[in-house]
Amino acid sequence: MTAGFIVTGTDTGIGKTAFSAMLTQALNGSYFKPIQAGLEEETDKEAVSRLTGLPGSKILPETYRLNTPASPHVSAEIDGIEIDVERLVLPEIEGPLIVEGAGGLLVPVTRETLYIDVFASWSLPVILCARTALGAINHALLSLEALKSRGMTIHGIVFIGDSVPDTERTICEMGNVRRLGRLPRLAALNSASLAETFSQNFRSSDFFG
Ligand SMILES: Nc1ncnc2c1ncn2[C@@H]1O[C@H](COP(=O)(O)OP(=O)(O)O)[C@@H](O)[C@H]1O
Ligand SMILES: [Mg+2]
Repeated sequence: MTAGFIVTGTDTGIGKTAFSAMLTQALNGSYFKPIQAGLEEETDKEAVSRLTGLPGSKILPETYRLNTPASPHVSAEIDGIEIDVERLVLPEIEGPLIVEGAGGLLVPVTRETLYIDVFASWSLPVILCARTALGAINHALLSLEALKSRGMTIHGIVFIGDSVPDTERTICEMGNVRRLGRLPRLAALNSASLAETFSQNFRSSDFFG
């Protein structure tokens, strides 16, 4: 059985890819982004490749590559592609698999299916990435509610950004979720800085066993 984590977040552009790169590298795992919407800028898969020292074999190909940077359902329609939810399956691999979704949990994959429902069909625990900036409490607690209402396994929460202790505490207490660590804003985002941040701010044991 494939083991690993689903990395999701409260929003787009918050650092899910940066965290996924850090975690994939730290666990010597494989990275998988099932749907990439937007191909003109660096893709998430390319970013993970650049940000880690991992060989190409550990960065898996996407199932759907869509041209327009938009919600997958719209991006697919623009490309004239129909996303077949049945094709959104996890690759069978050895070692931990880090799967990154798109945007937040209630992003539509098609006009009938939300990304969270695709996640729920996979038996992997979820890591929620949340910002620490103003607005984070509301977004994080809403995301946790959505996960809980579907009975999904929440592995823990990762904060991204400056330290705001009360925000982190409030989310963990009121959302009843484990804090895995915080990825601060790094002046240089690269393999070495991500490795150092993981060893200083996270516990490997939280991700194994
Ligand atoms: N911890 C960080 N320190 C510095 N820059 C970051 C950090 N996390 C993310 N970024 C930058 O912020 C932008 C969005 O991050 P990304 O990981 O792509 O977000 P998401 O996957 O949630 O859309 C990227 O340009 C990325 O390089
Ligand atoms: Mg991303």
